Amino acid sequence: HGTSHINVHGHLEIGGVDTVALAKEHGTPLFVYDVALIRKRAEQFKQAFEHEKIPYQVAYASKAFSCVAMYQLADELGLSFDVVSGGELYTAIKAGVPMEKVHFHGNNKSRQELELAVKSGIGCVVVDNFYEMTLLEEICTAHGKTMDVLLRITPGVEAHTHDYISTGQEDSKFGFDLTNGQVDEAIKLSLKSNTMNLLGIHSHIGSQIFETQGFVMAVEKIFEYIEHWREKLDFIPKVLNLGGGFGIRYVDGDEPLHPREYVSQMTQVMKQYAEQFEMAMPEIWIEPGRSLVGDAGTTLYTVGSQKDIPGVRHYLAVDGGMSDNLRPALYQAEYDGILANRAIEQADQKFSIAGKCCESGDMLIWDLPLPKANHEDILAVFCTGAYGYSMANNYNRIPRPPVVFLENGEVQLVVKREEYEDLVRLDVPLTKTVKL
Ligand code: LLP
Repeated sequence: HGTSHINVHGHLEIGGVDTVALAKEHGTPLFVYDVALIRKRAEQFKQAFEHEKIPYQVAYASKAFSCVAMYQLADELGLSFDVVSGGELYTAIKAGVPMEKVHFHGNNKSRQELELAVKSGIGCVVVDNFYEMTLLEEICTAHGKTMDVLLRITPGVEAHTHDYISTGQEDSKFGFDLTNGQVDEAIKLSLKSNTMNLLGIHSHIGSQIFETQGFVMAVEKIFEYIEHWREKLDFIPKVLNLGGGFGIRYVDGDEPLHPREYVSQMTQVMKQYAEQFEMAMPEIWIEPGRSLVGDAGTTLYTVGSQKDIPGVRHYLAVDGGMSDNLRPALYQAEYDGILANRAIEQADQKFSIAGKCCESGDMLIWDLPLPKANHEDILAVFCTGAYGYSMANNYNRIPRPPVVFLENGEVQLVVKREEYEDLVRLDVPLTKTVKL
């Protein structure tokens, strides 16, 4: 993918930068991003919409990877921003991106979070539930402000038959139910409100999806109701946000679709309905996270200890693990990798890549074919750009790795390595006067 290739030294090179030299300079574990590939992915989504000649917004679902520089890059790429917490919102504020392009998600936004959203003048709140409506009304009234809103609905798309990490099924913690009158009630309330301006409807069916069918089903469901809303509530959504969830290739066998496939299928169905109902096409918004940054990210590790169980398995341990990539332990997620410093050598043995956490489940990859590895070799694990750093943690008090952006031979450090000092920064030592 992207700009990665093997250079004259037989090393993995990304964005014109030798990853082996980079690992030496910055230490490992190290997250590296191929910025050109992020640009390409963003362009693909935008061009897919331009091709359909319809109004759209592509919002970057920043939960996939969030830091000041990433918001700035997303802004440069003409994307809007989907944030899901006060922390992500705060980071976007610090990045200095236009607040009117920020969309705020979440199934339990707190009063403080909504206050920050209202005060900073974000573009819209994706309202999830009735309690949030009450809070938002109160806060907007107190600040003399109004807020554009989308209502998050649960489209009732049964995802069991498909290969998704599903959120759109009826029994979900997210959003208003479409089928039992909750959405109607929420529409009525927001139309009546003096502070909320109802723009439209939001639906997200899941993540790492490889088919267009679920999205089409969600559009169909929503349009079944649009007729009814128009007649009964005099409401026609100006915006339909179909969420994110577009899958990427982690390992051979994953077959992602081109963004154009999703976009053209969604818009075709919508155009048909709009024509049939004689209504203006709603603006289409989407929120890709993984598909914008996932395959642009690679993690570099240094090989450490090994354990051979003859005839059973060869364990190879690296200097990171579930502290920088929780996905294998959490979802049995699969990854591919190579030795970055010996990228041209024949992979003639299988190694199971272990992390360094005190937990048997801390395995990054099972049975990865590699050349015979030595300690100090650099292992590159691919496609770690989404939900890698963002789900990193300090289990075992392991500091989180740094992140660098690479492009045209240039290296830009965008997140520093956490130091031991950072780990104890919030700790408060016992004082002699404490009596429990
Ligand atoms: N919009 C909404 C409302 C979402 O809930 C999500 C993801 C997205 C957009 C972005 O989805 P994406 O395009 O990245 O698939 N930690 C899990 C993924 C959780 C996704 C949660 N919601 C993982 O590592 O696979």
